[in-house]
Amino acid sequence: MKAIVVADQAAGTAGMRLTERPVPEPAGNDVLVEIHASGFTPGELDWDTTWTDRLGRDRTPSVPGHELAGVVCALGYGTRGLSVGQRVFGLADWTRDGTLAEYAAVEARNLSPLPGDVAFTVGASLPISGLTAWQGLFVHGRLRVGQSALVHGAAGGVGSMVTQLARAAGAYVIGTGRAGDRQAALDLGAHEFVDLEDDSLADVGAVDLVFDSFGGEIQKRSADLIRAGGTLVTIAGPPEARPADGLAIDFVVEADRGQLSEIAQRVRDGRLRTLIGNVASLDDAVAAFNPTERVKGKTIIRVRP
Ligand SMILES: NC(=O)c1ccc[n+]([C@@H]2O[C@H](COP(=O)([O-])OP(=O)(O)OC[C@H]3O[C@@H](n4cnc5c(N)ncnc54)[C@H](OP(=O)(O)O)[C@@H]3O)[C@@H](O)[C@H]2O)c1
Repeated sequence: MKAIVVADQAAGTAGMRLTERPVPEPAGNDVLVEIHASGFTPGELDWDTTWTDRLGRDRTPSVPGHELAGVVCALGYGTRGLSVGQRVFGLADWTRDGTLAEYAAVEARNLSPLPGDVAFTVGASLPISGLTAWQGLFVHGRLRVGQSALVHGAAGGVGSMVTQLARAAGAYVIGTGRAGDRQAALDLGAHEFVDLEDDSLADVGAVDLVFDSFGGEIQKRSADLIRAGGTLVTIAGPPEARPADGLAIDFVVEADRGQLSEIAQRVRDGRLRTLIGNVASLDDAVAAFNPTERVKGKTIIRVRP
């Protein structure tokens, strides 16, 4: 099969190359997926799991990419819940070869059925941003109707999902970002927007939840805004600040079939939209991940036309 591989962490995305690899074998409880569309997060080249297996052994050259949408083409021993020919989408395992390839072997529990009216390119854009937003708001942040949420990077990949889901859940949403993101954040459902380069965060007043993706000074100033019993949820690593009378939680996104299914249903209904910036073929993937101009939105690889 055709696959993109990386072998040198220092080379970054410029070190990606297109090559031939054997089709992976589905292990117990796996499915083998014929990939139709695939997503890649540039940050994953900084993760140890991109370069090693679960025991920390070198596994380079490795296939990056963890988001996928495709069709199940074989089942491993004991696999239940998905069947051959089924459209699926989800999150591939962190420590195994990933999704920038024509096939990937993935634990079945990490995938969810993809409705026939949701395009593969859309399905592949959802798992990381959608699940991160869902888990941060509802699992870790315990957001409830009528609460207020300060959402950093509200027009970005994760933030755009957080903004839409929080608004739909009945929260009062204050989005943040750069001046140029104001309209996008408001269009996604933010009630207010704070330009982090010009406005003062202190003017926001008290909030129940902060969804942080930056860390550092912005996180520290945000923690001070959290009212008693509120939560700082961060996806930027261990919290550097804590609310005076509340919780600070950091987490790494996990696959969850039920949550993927909720996300797909919202996309289907038109209640949730995803920001795709560029769609490229697998042959053009290396160039697409090394753009000469800045692309807003996620780059998706259409592996099969
Ligand atoms: N823990 C987890 O499970 C998890 C999961 C997903 C993502 N992450 C991490 O979360 C972060 C965000 O991911 P993402 O995919 O949402 O990234 P993204 O699409 O680049 O979104 C970030 C948004 O924040 C804006 N922004 C960044 N720095 C800013 C600043 N100083 N002031 C104002 N606006 C700023 C960006 O604007 P510009 O585009 O103009 O810079 C962009 O709109 C990344 O570090 C990623 O690695 C963690």
